[in-house]
Amino acid sequence: MVTVILGCQWGDEGKGKIVDVLAQHADVVVRFQGGANAGHTVVADGTQYVLHLIPSGILNPKTACVIGHGVVLDPASLLEEIQLLAKLGTDLKGRLLISNRAHLVMPYHKTLDQAKELAGGDKKIGTTGRGIGPAYTDKASRVGIRVLDLLEPERLKDKITKNISSVNQILEHIYHAPRIEAQGVIAEYLAYGKTLAPYIADAESYLVQAVRDKKNIILEGAQGSLLDIDIGTYPYVTSSNTTAGGSSTGSGIAPRKIDKVIGVVKAYTTRVGEGPFPTELPEAEGNALREQGKEFGATTGRPRRCGWFDAAVVRFAAEVNGADELVITKLDVLDNLPKIKICTGYAYRGKPLPHFPADMEVLSEVQPIYEEFPGWQAKTSSVTEWSNLPQAAQNYLHRLEELVGVRIGMVSVGPDRAQIITKK
Ligand code: GDP
Ligand code: IMO
Ligand code: MG
Repeated sequence: MVTVILGCQWGDEGKGKIVDVLAQHADVVVRFQGGANAGHTVVADGTQYVLHLIPSGILNPKTACVIGHGVVLDPASLLEEIQLLAKLGTDLKGRLLISNRAHLVMPYHKTLDQAKELAGGDKKIGTTGRGIGPAYTDKASRVGIRVLDLLEPERLKDKITKNISSVNQILEHIYHAPRIEAQGVIAEYLAYGKTLAPYIADAESYLVQAVRDKKNIILEGAQGSLLDIDIGTYPYVTSSNTTAGGSSTGSGIAPRKIDKVIGVVKAYTTRVGEGPFPTELPEAEGNALREQGKEFGATTGRPRRCGWFDAAVVRFAAEVNGADELVITKLDVLDNLPKIKICTGYAYRGKPLPHFPADMEVLSEVQPIYEEFPGWQAKTSSVTEWSNLPQAAQNYLHRLEELVGVRIGMVSVGPDRAQIITKK
């Protein structure tokens, strides 16, 4: 059984928690795109883990974890994670596989990412500064350095030297920033090659075999569907395919082998970074959700922009992903509110908009059409059965299902593994 679990908003939907819960019955969990821009939080036995590159199945001792070739891998960030997990008692030997085809994030990618943002002024994207855009740019330009190059010292030296020489041109002449010395980077990456060698594998053939053996496989998305480079809110997106298609191209598991797509969505909406956000709440109201939901970035610590649930966004995401099921997270965050709104669709220049717009000038002008719901004003965080949810909460969730057109499979009511309701 191959299941894709991905975010259907702008990221931070709670994918990490849901992957961890479902990984209790999985043989393999695979990250298929993105890089250390992701921050996936898992709370297991009272300990909180924030994972950036390692799949969120890692806390289940029997689950193997694969970093697929669609990921851009920052070795420094990965080693920090490996060391932290080891310190907390999680052994990765023989359980973590890194695709030898994955591209590397180099220090100059981070330098370029940050320099571009700094120079961007009001045109900046609000990236995480983790070098994601420049790393995927090198991949698409066919000058990227891959994980397998780490094991070939001469080739690695040659590639780093060539790339740094062109990066220095850009740094010097476009950003008027200091040059980078190749020697230090070469030494650093040669050392990564030695340390990471035991994890580097032909992950694609491992996964093909796992599919053949009918293993239970989870493909874990990072970011969210609206941050997809192709169908997201371009240019305010990340540089990879975060939607279901990316799970196949980024793992090497053929599309026809995928059995199920689960879309994870928050019971409201958040976004980090720039770009239009139709249901964004004004400062004071947004603050209430931000405080209650602890909406601060898991990677950058930035306050997340908060707003009401946007059914236009999730409906669009569910369609392009072919979502079979939704998981609603953070329902408990709405517990105290007297009134809750849902955006059912948009009006543009006085007329209803039939489709989610491709043009960000249109999206920044749309008027959300709201329905208002009475809040339940009761604690849901210890509820474990659907029938024990307050009636007003059930009504709210039923309306989300109806508006998105996809059934809800699970509802999360707190960060812990145990705080999950399965809807029959
Ligand atoms: P991801 O990037 O999609 O994995 O999500 P993040 O980890 O960045 O953000 C989700 C945050 O919400 C984390 O701090 C989680 O521990 C927390 N969380 C997940 N599910 C729930 C829930 O149902 N209720 C509450 N209150 N917090 C949750
Ligand atoms: P997870 O996996 C939320 C956003 C950044 C920025 C845009 C581009 O934890 O859900 P990038 O660094 O990727 O070039 O930034 O994408 N972004 C995320 N927002 N959650 C994430 O990951 C994100 N990863 C990137 O804030 O707006
Ligand atoms: Mg996150």
